[in-house]
Amino acid sequence: MQDKVVVVVGATGGIGTALCQQLAPMGAKLVLAARNSDRLSALQQQLTAAGAPEVLSVPTDITDATQTTALIEKTTARFGAVDVLVNTAGAGILKQYNKLSAADFDAMLDLNLKGSFHTSQAAANVMREQRSGHICNLAGILGKHSMVMGTAYCASKFGVVGFTKCMAEELKRFGIKFTLFYFGGVDSPFWDTAGLKVDRSKMLRPTTAANAIVFAISQEPAAIPMEVNMQPESHLFF
Ligand SMILES: NC(=O)c1ccc[n+]([C@@H]2O[C@H](COP(=O)([O-])OP(=O)(O)OC[C@H]3O[C@@H](n4cnc5c(N)ncnc54)[C@H](OP(=O)(O)O)[C@@H]3O)[C@@H](O)[C@H]2O)c1
Repeated sequence: MQDKVVVVVGATGGIGTALCQQLAPMGAKLVLAARNSDRLSALQQQLTAAGAPEVLSVPTDITDATQTTALIEKTTARFGAVDVLVNTAGAGILKQYNKLSAADFDAMLDLNLKGSFHTSQAAANVMREQRSGHICNLAGILGKHSMVMGTAYCASKFGVVGFTKCMAEELKRFGIKFTLFYFGGVDSPFWDTAGLKVDRSKMLRPTTAANAIVFAISQEPAAIPMEVNMQPESHLFF
């Protein structure tokens, strides 16, 4: 990963932070994106101390397409390339179908589905010119399995799988790889607001999810890890 330009969207989250902490000592040039600028600055300092050669933080709300465009423009202005984009921003609203408000449903689609698409599209436009790049989208296991109370969340994440596979087909001739990650429950702040009581002690650790992402993005150029499944033992979906 030495000198690779890696944009981590949702860098301050559980999985995003664990990923950045693994990439920093590997020599990656890191671009950190999320909304809260104080948390981004604190993470930037921590990663610099951990050996990251260069870290740029760009406060970004990915529900606004102009901000995702600006994120990628600031990345290329500073580093001249986007080698890897990892979309780890997201949130969960887990409610029965008849408890979901229109605003809940919009919030899931705006953040998880459209936000991931806006960032993927902006990065892919640069990667297409480079004729190389790797886009990682965290659909989660609820991107392909249903769950009670998952109506809005699953709708957004099934959508992530759909657009990612279509973009992968369109962009493979430009040397752009896509990987979909189907993690089961990961013990992160995601669960503080998801509205569901869960036993976090049985979940994957964020470092385990980050290991899987590092595995995928550090393979030889011709190898394409299309999908990575990782479930906690206590909650297996096949
Ligand atoms: N945790 C799990 O069990 C699990 C399992 C499978 C898949 N996933 C998926 O994995 C991804 C990461 O999850 P996580 O567990 O790391 O979540 P997390 O700890 O809650 O982190 C979420 C991150 O997204 C950022 N974010 C939220 N809204 C944003 C917005 N509008 N624009 C930009 N950034 C935004 C947050 O920062 P700000 O609030 O500062 O913006 C934070 O950095 C999500 O897509 C989630 O759906 C999670």
